[in-house]
Parts: sequence; structure tokens; C-alpha cells
Amino acid sequence: MKYLVTGGAGFIGSNFIQYMMDKYPEDEFINLDALTYAGHTNTIERFNEYCNYRFVKGDITNRQFVMELFSKEKFDVVVNFAAESHVDRSINDTSAFVLTNVLGTTNLLDASKKYEVERYHQVGTDEVYGELPLDRPDLLFSEKTPIHTSSSYSSSKASADLFVLSYYRTHGLPVTISRCSNNYGPYQYPEKLIPLMICRAIKDIKLPVYGNGLNVRDWIFVEDHCSAIDTIIHKGKVGEVYNVGGQSERTNLQVVNTILEKLHKSKELISFVADRPGHDKRYAIDFSKIKSELGWAPSMSFEDGIAKTVGWYIDNELWLNEVTAGGYQEYISKMYGI
Ligand code: NAD
Ligand code: DAU
Repeated sequence: MKYLVTGGAGFIGSNFIQYMMDKYPEDEFINLDALTYAGHTNTIERFNEYCNYRFVKGDITNRQFVMELFSKEKFDVVVNFAAESHVDRSINDTSAFVLTNVLGTTNLLDASKKYEVERYHQVGTDEVYGELPLDRPDLLFSEKTPIHTSSSYSSSKASADLFVLSYYRTHGLPVTISRCSNNYGPYQYPEKLIPLMICRAIKDIKLPVYGNGLNVRDWIFVEDHCSAIDTIIHKGKVGEVYNVGGQSERTNLQVVNTILEKLHKSKELISFVADRPGHDKRYAIDFSKIKSELGWAPSMSFEDGIAKTVGWYIDNELWLNEVTAGGYQEYISKMYGI
């Protein structure tokens, strides 16, 4: 099988390529990435030793480029990770999110249709379902939960999902969609909660917790997300959406306190800052469909996963220094001012 993985120089895409190349050494993997602020060559340089891997620098919003690449390569499977992925950035810049997440996705869909790929898999998010209340722990997102988005990020991802499903209905394109909860693990850019807090705590810099810190997310170790996508590609039914979760609901404060404990740092580093506008209260996933129909379940506990992740950031200071050079500091001071 010949795979096109888009966004493979980012966090989850690079972990997915590693996971798949280890598991399917006979398959071929082409990584298409525009190398935005979130994509880094030092994340993917370890793949250069694999003879079944190639990197192509390119932008999925460039329709002609995408068409030419598909015409030349004749992919069997497309897995679309490429996206603007950070909610906070989407609050002040909707257009980048519409361009990559919506237009970019439709370019990939058109090319997949024209060149008759065997499977198009869209990497979606649980954020398309909106939020759950904090006082109803019995409520979970199922695949039947109505789309109800809060941010430009989630709206653009929901829009992409709707296009993907329409290409199945109208054109018979063999699509699947996964909607996953919050990922953490190695190679995550330090703008998202867990790597941001680890990096700042290591350096004894204040940790900005939004609002009262009681918002809840369901955390999944990135390798479990990769195995879920692999399962859906190989066993999933076309035209279907599968929710993927980590069975690890935590408040943001619980997450930050765990990180501080692992690093033997003081809780006094925590600084409560203004809340995120439109901040979703709680995400929680019912993943019974993928479990009962495809036999997938997460295997990493949050305690083990966070210990592994903290250890990875301590051991990979060079990677961290490289990805936080350039525009990172400017983003941090503009965003937090602390
Ligand atoms: P990321 O921001 O770490 O990586 C995104 C990658 O896409 C980067 O390498 C970037 O260079 C590339 N990219 C951006 N625009 C592009 C374009 N126009 N053309 C080509 N490449 C482009 O994101 P991530 O956290 O790894 O998320 C990957 C996917 O998974 C996204 O679609 C996201 O919506 C989805 N997702 C993420 C999470 C999470 O917790 N991080 C959870 C569920 C779903
Ligand atoms: O649920 C899946 C989604 O999870 C993915 O689709 C997104 O790509 C990914 O970014 C993530 O979205 P969140 O907004 O939930 O993740 P983030 O790490 O930005 O924030 C997690 C929680 O932590 C959220 O409640 C906001 C809070 N937070 C975040 C940051 C960056 C803080 O309190 N302080 C911070 O500085």
C-alpha cells in the first residue's frame, strides 16, 4: 500500500508515520507538509533512514500542486492530519483555519476522487460536538451527538467533516472519519496545555491556567490515537465516523498539578489568567462504537503516559530549543504577557 500522510511533520502525524512504518515495513509512506510554524524538520529527520519513506514539502491549499502530486504518485490511502490545530490561534485568525482545514481538505477530496484512492481518512476532533456540562458526568459525546461548535477551529474541522461525508454520499468516495479527544505525548508543539506547562515548569516560569482551571478534557496518549486510526483504516466501514477517547478525564488543574509533581516543582508556579473566550467546559468521549465494532480500546493510562511525556521533554531539550526558536517567543509574549 502507498500512503499519503498530510501534516506528518506535526505532532500526531509524525507519531502516526513512526507507528505505521514500524508496523508495516512493506508499505510506502509519503509525508506532505507545508512546514508551518507547527511543522518541523527535526521532528521527522529520524525517518530519513527508512527506504520506504519520502518527504514532500507542499501546501494542501494549492490545488494544482495537490492534483499533480496525486497524478504522479497514485496513492492507495490518504490520511489527512494537515491542519491549523490550535484553538487559541483561531480566535484571532479565522482565515488560516478556513484555508487549510476546509479548502485544503476539499482539494484532497477532489484529488482522491479523481485518482480513485482506496481510502480517504479524515483526522477529526471531538471539539465538533461542542461542550458538555460539568455537573453531568453521565453525559458523553457519541457519534450521534449533534455538531455544535464553539471556535473557528472546531467550526472549520466540522465543516471539513461534512465535506468528507458528502463525498461519500454523492461520489461514493470510500471515506472514514475519526473524532478524537485531546492528545499528548512526544513531539507536541509547546503551545498546547501539556507541553506548554512542562516546558515552562522545567524553567520555573509561571504556568498560565485559564479561568478557574476546572474545565475538563479526556486525555489520550498519542500512540493510542495512532493505533485507532490504523484500526479504522484496516477494519472500519466506509462512510462511518468513529469516536476515539482516552478514558482519562481530568480537570486542567489536575493535569498541571500532576506535571508539577513529576517535576518536583512548587504549585506556586500556577498563575490563574483570563479565561479563553468561548472556552468549552468539558469533553468526554463514548468510544463504544470503535470498541464493539472494531475491537479497539486505549492501552496507556494517564499516569504512565504523562510520566513518559515529561521524561521525553526532559531528554529532548535540543528539539525543544529548536522548535521554540523563531516566532515562538513572540507568540508567547503576545498571548500571555508572562
Ligand atoms: P499540529 O499543529 O502539531 O500539526 C499540523 C501539521 O500540519 C504541521 O506539521 C503543519 O506544518 C501542517 N500543515 C498545516 N497547514 C498545512 C497546509 N496548508 N498544507 C500542508 N501541511 C500543513 O497538529 P496535531 O496536533 O498533530 O493535529 C493533527 C490533526 O489531528 C489535526 O487535523 C487536528 O485537528 C487533529 N486532532 C488533534 C488533536 C490534538 O489533541 N492535538 C485531537 C484530535 C484531532
Ligand atoms: O479535543 C481535541 C482537541 O484538543 C484538538 O482537536 C485540538 O487540536 C487540540 O488543540 C485540543 O484542543 P484544546 O483547546 O482542548 O487544547 P489545549 O491544549 O489548547 O487546551 C487544553 C485545556 O487547557 C483547555 O481547557 C484550555 C486550557 N489551557 C490551555 C492553554 C494553552 C490553559 O488553561 N492554559 C493554556 O495556556
